[in-house]
Amino acid sequence: MRAMLWAESPEGIIGSGGTIPWRYPGDLKRFKRLTLGSTVVMGRATFESMRSRPLSGRRNVIVTSRALDVSGIEVVRSLDEALERAGDADVWFIGGARIYAEAMKYVDLIDVVHVPDRISTADAVYAPAIDERAFEPSPLVPHEDEPALTRRVYRRRAPRA
Ligand SMILES: NC(=O)c1ccc[n+]([C@@H]2O[C@H](COP(=O)([O-])OP(=O)(O)OC[C@H]3O[C@@H](n4cnc5c(N)ncnc54)[C@H](OP(=O)(O)O)[C@@H]3O)[C@@H](O)[C@H]2O)c1
Repeated sequence: MRAMLWAESPEGIIGSGGTIPWRYPGDLKRFKRLTLGSTVVMGRATFESMRSRPLSGRRNVIVTSRALDVSGIEVVRSLDEALERAGDADVWFIGGARIYAEAMKYVDLIDVVHVPDRISTADAVYAPAIDERAFEPSPLVPHEDEPALTRRVYRRRAPRA
């Protein structure tokens, strides 16, 4: 399985100032439940937003052109290299915007959480557009771990080429 997930505001914002501008513990709990045991692939900025600490119980693959001297992570130069490393394991692309945009062609499932927080900031990072000709949206459903939130899954309509 290859998938990606993010949480976005009503404006489609996923981050600002190098971080996520809201906090919902139930969503973090669900994120952990979904990704535990898998390979998580993230961009260097997202890794830094986690204080450059790998997520426990997951294989952490960081995409960057830089050399990162951190234990518990694997550094790759491209998404292709990340997928090569992962082999047959489940892969979650976990951000940020550039990774989501580039991973769109590799994933079968996109999991989007909607937070109600209105964000007004000059340095916002936005979620990519989802092409509904390629991905079929499921109904919006309540977030099982966080009552204030909703979520929607998109599934690839036809097998990847
Ligand atoms: N709301 C959410 O669910 C969510 C989830 C994740 C992240 N975020 C937020 O998103 C923001 C970060 O996103 P971002 O888009 O700015 O950055 P990002 O995608 O996390 O990282 C960008 C960096 O990753 C590396 N990179 C990405 N694609 C690459 C490729 N194909 N080849 C080589 N290197 C590649 C480059 O690193 P180098 O410059 O080192 O070469 C690039 O500068 C933060 O605010 C974070 O909190 C939100």
